Amino acid sequence: MVTQGTAAEAQKQSAAERALGLVRSGMVIGLGTGTTARYFIEGLGRLVANGLQVQAIVTSTDSRRRAIASGIPLREQIDSQIDLTVDGADEIDPAIDCIKGRGGALLREKIVAHASRRFVLIADDSKVVDRLGRGPVPVEILPFLWERTSYGIAQLGGDPVLRAGPDGPYRTDNGNLVLDVRFEGIDRDLDARLHAIPGVIEHGLFFGVAHAAIVGGPSGIRVLGELG
Ligand code: 5RP
Repeated sequence: MVTQGTAAEAQKQSAAERALGLVRSGMVIGLGTGTTARYFIEGLGRLVANGLQVQAIVTSTDSRRRAIASGIPLREQIDSQIDLTVDGADEIDPAIDCIKGRGGALLREKIVAHASRRFVLIADDSKVVDRLGRGPVPVEILPFLWERTSYGIAQLGGDPVLRAGPDGPYRTDNGNLVLDVRFEGIDRDLDARLHAIPGVIEHGLFFGVAHAAIVGGPSGIRVLGELG
């Protein structure tokens, strides 16, 4: 069970519950990662226990463990499209562009999001910003010559900090490192400029990927974009 201590937890949970209303029997569902996505996974598990037939694709080892514990049938491959993916975010702007990856799962999350017919964010109110860049952009990089990769990112005007884990540098599920990079201003060109640096595997800027965001707030749910 996820602990629900704070108002933010209740907002995350209500956003997740609203997203569960988009699920239909027969769907292939992408499961995001993080404290908000966990509420969705738990809720989907309840629906499955009541007879809903779905299969899920997970975005992390953590979500895999939670999905299995919730009795959700998993699928390892897909040759066409995922029907619906529901995931959290660290920052969401009014255009539903977002920053993801504070939980370290950004690479698999981006692959799954791009493979999805509908990609819906769920979040509490604190994640909504006027402009992306309140916090750092997570960037997954190859460990090989990582300091050179970090230098390349600094040349773009970023301030990269190697993410720490419990026993040394944090490692993603893919065995890579994460740099948390603060930028003075974020624009859409940053996507291509980051990808032009050898050693950068993926970054947490999701431009034009999400179709909608369900945001839980003190006075209820609001939806950015179209739930479809
Ligand atoms: C993990 C993510 C998460 O979705 C994001 O960090 C939001 O997490 P939370 O719901 O715990 O605030 O991108 O890589």
